[in-house]
Amino acid sequence: MQANANVPAFAAVLAIGGLTFLLALRRWQKKSSAPTTGTSSVTKVTAHALPGATVTDVQNFWDSRPCNVKHSQKEIGSKEYFDEVEKKRLAAEPHIGRWAQFDKWGGKEVLEVGCGIGTEGVLFARGGAKYTGFELSTKSLDICKQRFSVFGLGGEFFDGSAETLTTHLPPGKAYDLVYSFGVIHHTPNPKACIQQIRKVMKPDGELRIMLYAAESWKTYMIEIGLDQPEAQYGCPIAFTFTRDEIKELLHPEFRVDESLEIKQFHIFPYQIGPYKKGLFVKEPWFEAMPKQMFDQLQEKLGWHLLITAKPAAM
Ligand SMILES: C[S@@+](CC[C@H](N)C(=O)[O-])C[C@H]1O[C@@H](n2cnc3c(N)ncnc32)[C@H](O)[C@@H]1O
Repeated sequence: MQANANVPAFAAVLAIGGLTFLLALRRWQKKSSAPTTGTSSVTKVTAHALPGATVTDVQNFWDSRPCNVKHSQKEIGSKEYFDEVEKKRLAAEPHIGRWAQFDKWGGKEVLEVGCGIGTEGVLFARGGAKYTGFELSTKSLDICKQRFSVFGLGGEFFDGSAETLTTHLPPGKAYDLVYSFGVIHHTPNPKACIQQIRKVMKPDGELRIMLYAAESWKTYMIEIGLDQPEAQYGCPIAFTFTRDEIKELLHPEFRVDESLEIKQFHIFPYQIGPYKKGLFVKEPWFEAMPKQMFDQLQEKLGWHLLITAKPAAM
């Protein structure tokens, strides 16, 4: 009886030991053969990328199924639909609110790059921010605009690629916060986005972006065929980054000194079948894991790198 009760904990310890080994192996492999991509000198590990995928491929993918659009079965565009989407998103990814601090930006100019269907957008607007939503997928942006309209919130909206951001936004406008959650790793040239974003920021502004982590539980599960980068199959591009690669990506447009903060979080612990029906049932190995152990695992091997950076002087 006693021995059986210890099996899940033993399995969890074995899993962590195995992952620590994989982590060390990956660091060694990356040192000996780091790839370079595109016009950027930033090295990236590719979680999933179709060879030669373009911005148009990326747009077609997100137009065909906007991010989180299936978080509710209610009529798309209705208040009930948006309420359910928000509830499910914040329950599945509770770190978003803690990190974005939606109430901190009242009266400030906030630009969201890749706003999707506007889940965070309405939270910024409700917090009093002067909100601008920018998005490649026009399907997603239409739903986002509808969301603002349903809740009587104000905002400005522009469509286009972040790789050419300045050509789509009002000339001369500068932002206090540029926020981008899970976007820049989906485009062929992330470095171009960073360069463009810097150009629209106030000198004392702040950048908050989430990028996928190379050294993560999810990366390892993708590598052995047990997971995929996005809920929907066939995402053309999903780059992942190490902490050093983040610094390469941000430099020289953003400061990479002690003002740069990179936190790691988010291991999705739930069974997909029930989750699709709105039920949060943990996988048995995560159910068995003590909270302290799971929290530590998320901080070391989470899928989300939460990056806060200050612009460098231009
Ligand atoms: C994973 S979804 C995240 C959406 C939203 N940030 C959220 O958290 O709900 C990725 C989004 O990035 C957008 N995206 C991808 N490449 C982009 C680009 N080059 N410019 C602007 N948006 C882009 C996609 O259209 C998609 O809506």
